[in-house]
This record gives sequence, C-alpha cells and structure tokens, in this order.
Amino acid sequence: MDKIKIIGGNPLFGKVYISGAKNTALPIICAGLLTDEPVTIQNIPFLSDIKSLNALLLQLGTQIEEKTEERNGHLTQTITYHTPEPTSLIAPYDYVRKMRASYYVLGPLLAKYGHVELSLPGGCAIGARPMDIHLTSLEQMGAHIEIKNGYVVADTAGRLKGAHITFHSASVGATCNILMAATLAEGTTVIENAAKEPEIADLIDILNKMGANIEGANTSTLTVHGVDKLHGVTHEIINDRIEAGSYAVAAAITKGRLELINVRAEHLQSPIDILRKTGVTVEPTDNGIIVDAQNATLVGQDIYTDYYPGFPTDLQAQFMALMCIANGAAMVTESIWENRFMHVPELMRMGANINVHGHASAIVRGVDKLSAAPVMSTDLRASFALILAGLVAEGETIVNRVYHLDRGYECLEEKFKAVGANIERIKEPD
Ligand code: UD1
Repeated sequence: MDKIKIIGGNPLFGKVYISGAKNTALPIICAGLLTDEPVTIQNIPFLSDIKSLNALLLQLGTQIEEKTEERNGHLTQTITYHTPEPTSLIAPYDYVRKMRASYYVLGPLLAKYGHVELSLPGGCAIGARPMDIHLTSLEQMGAHIEIKNGYVVADTAGRLKGAHITFHSASVGATCNILMAATLAEGTTVIENAAKEPEIADLIDILNKMGANIEGANTSTLTVHGVDKLHGVTHEIINDRIEAGSYAVAAAITKGRLELINVRAEHLQSPIDILRKTGVTVEPTDNGIIVDAQNATLVGQDIYTDYYPGFPTDLQAQFMALMCIANGAAMVTESIWENRFMHVPELMRMGANINVHGHASAIVRGVDKLSAAPVMSTDLRASFALILAGLVAEGETIVNRVYHLDRGYECLEEKFKAVGANIERIKEPD
C-alpha cells in the first residue's frame, strides 16, 4: 500500500483544475444500462472507483471503449458504454464490497430486464449505510424482493409500476436508483423528499436526454412519467464540488491563494459561506473561484452537516482540519453519518485540540500549530483532512492507506506539487 509523505509549511499558490465529479459519474455510468444503444460520458475522472465500476460492468456484458482527451484545460476520460444484451444480471460480492456505489446497477437492471441479483454492500467505516429506502421503494413499484445469502434478489413480472413514494431520508443513492428505475416504469412515479444534490440534477439531465420524462430537478419532489424505451446519448458530467471544496481548504489552511478552475460556485454556497466567515476571501471567476487566505486571520466557525444545500458531510473532515488551526472554538456537528469522526484521533496525534461529544458533535479549539506524525486514515475524505493537516504541520507527515485517496482524488500529488506543496508518494510493493 502506497503512502504519502508531506513536509509542511509551504503556502499554496497557483491554479488547480477540478476534475469530473465521481459521485455523478457513478450513477450516470449505470444509467447507460437503461438502453441497448451506446452512451458516451465525457469528463470522467481517472479514479479507482471508476475502474471498479467498469470491472463490474464488463462482467455484466457491457462493452467499454475508453479515450483520453483534453477538455476544459486538462486531461479527462471519455468512455462509451454499450450493453446490447447483458451476459449476467448478477453484481457479485467481490465487486460490490470494493465499491458500494455498484448498487446503482439495481434500478436500471430491474427496470430494463426484470431481474437483478445484487450483493448487499454492508456498512462501511462511516456508518451502517442501510438500503431500506431503495428496496421498499422498488417494492412499492411492484418488485418482488428477497434477501438471500447476502444478496438482494429482485424480480418484476412485466414492467415496474409507477408509485407515489415518500423517502424517510433524502438519500442520494436511493433518489438515483429509484429515478433510474422509474424512467422505464409503467405510469407516473412521484418521489417526495428526494435528494437535491447537484449530482441528482446531472443524472436527471442525462436521463431526459436519453428520452426519459422527469420533472422537478433541483427540488425535493420529482415526477417521472415512464416511457417504453431510452436511447443512446453523449453527456458531459459536472465537475466535482467536493474536490473543489477540499482544495479551497488547502488554500485557506496554508494561507495561500488558489484559483480553482472548472467549479460552479453555486454548488458550494454553504462551504464558501463558512470560508468567508473564517476570514478567507472567496471570489467567483468565469469558470471557478479564487480562494485567497494570504492576509487572513482564521477564526473558528461552527459547522453542521446537512442535506444539500446544507453543508456537505463529505467536506466535514477537511473543514475540521482547518478549524484545528483557526483562532477560537468551532463546534462541528455531523448529522448524516453516525460514525464520521475517525479523523479526530489522528488529528489529535498531530496536536489538535478536539473533544468529541457522543457520536454527533465535536468541539475544536484552535491551536497555534500542528506537528507532523505518521497517521492512518479510514475513509476517503478523512484521508484528505490528514493531508491538509500535514501541509501546515511542522515536520514530515506520512499518511498511510493512500488507496482511500485514489478512490476519489484524481492526480492528487501532481495537483498539490504544481501549486508548491512538498508532497510525494512512497510506492510500496503490493
Ligand atoms: C452519497 C455519497 C456520499 C455522501 C452521501 C451523503 C455517493 C457515491 N456517495 O452516499 O459520499 O456522504 O451521499 O451526502 O454519491 N439512508 C437510509 N436508508 C437508505 C439510504 C440512506 O436510512 O436506504 C440514510 C443513510 O444512513 C444516511 C442518509 O440516509 O444517514 C444519507 O445517505 P445517502 O444519501 O443514501 O448516502 P449515499 O448515497 O450512500
């Protein structure tokens, strides 16, 4: 397993090109299973999660053609997915356990082929991550669902049926799965309390281009009028607001100035508000934002994670790292996941002053400086938080278990090096 070595102390200056959004690419790639025509997706990031999903799709019989091209100032992938006839309707444990968003094959395969067997992904480091909303919603649409030997076995005699569904939580995953399933259902499906994340609007965009009839994008009530058939399209996915927010914190914590290119500021309103209150200047540009903390006196701010447009849970760890060296105290409350403070003990090993209260709240009292340490991360965003701490810590920080970062941050060391960080990957034999 590779490691990342960082020597802290360099303020970051320059430009960072933000990549295509992982959490948009994953459902959108699976939307291609809803048609037997080719679907071409542009701006796909080079990430191990994409490779894992591609491996699953190959196993289902999807033909995949990959091309590298320069788009929006940097190298991206354009991938064509074509599933004229699946060779399997089973998503095996070995694929799903590596990448839980593999569950996005559930809605499309069931809607188009009437049968699917999906290994249950189980929980992960940040929480139990149930799938009850996905499954009960499909049952409301007429599917017969059983859990057998760790698999969801779902069948439908004929087409799924439109239904009026109210989610008990505004789940991103369930919204994507049920939206995709509903496109080919008979009649109209209404989803109440749907997720409103920008990733959902992008999924709706491609589905409508494929011939679906979905109303209500960017609202919590989605109406899907089922159609008989969808067709192939070409679609460019949006850029990654979480990657952008992560590099925005890198500018802030190092008291540097970064121009983040390929960012839609409106997707980051809540994190930008917090950065500004912390004392950092954030200015929009034509295609991004400039984050400038050169003259900032950082002041701790409370953070409460919530469904979009609230503050994203996927930026909680990174902003907590920032609060560790800001003046004063900051209360960080995690409302989405029940176990998302695993970065706290590692930040404390670097000298942070944090008290966790129960599962949901932590008080961060700012310290003057952090000190380098070997640290271990437990999930993707926590890993980035430790990199951020390493960028300002005195001495040499080693972040272990880098495979988490490779799941979600494209060309991380290259992007950091290009703006002045002293960072390198230490390759370890497998
Ligand atoms: C997605 C993101 C993840 C992000 C999360 C919340 C992807 C691949 N992952 O995860 O990075 O942290 O959104 O923004 O896009 N819930 C249920 N029952 C269900 C489904 C969810 O109770 O059937 C609950 C969860 O326990 C959690 C909340 O709903 O408390 C949100 O989960 P959800 O939005 O589904 O997260 P994911 O789609 O898995």
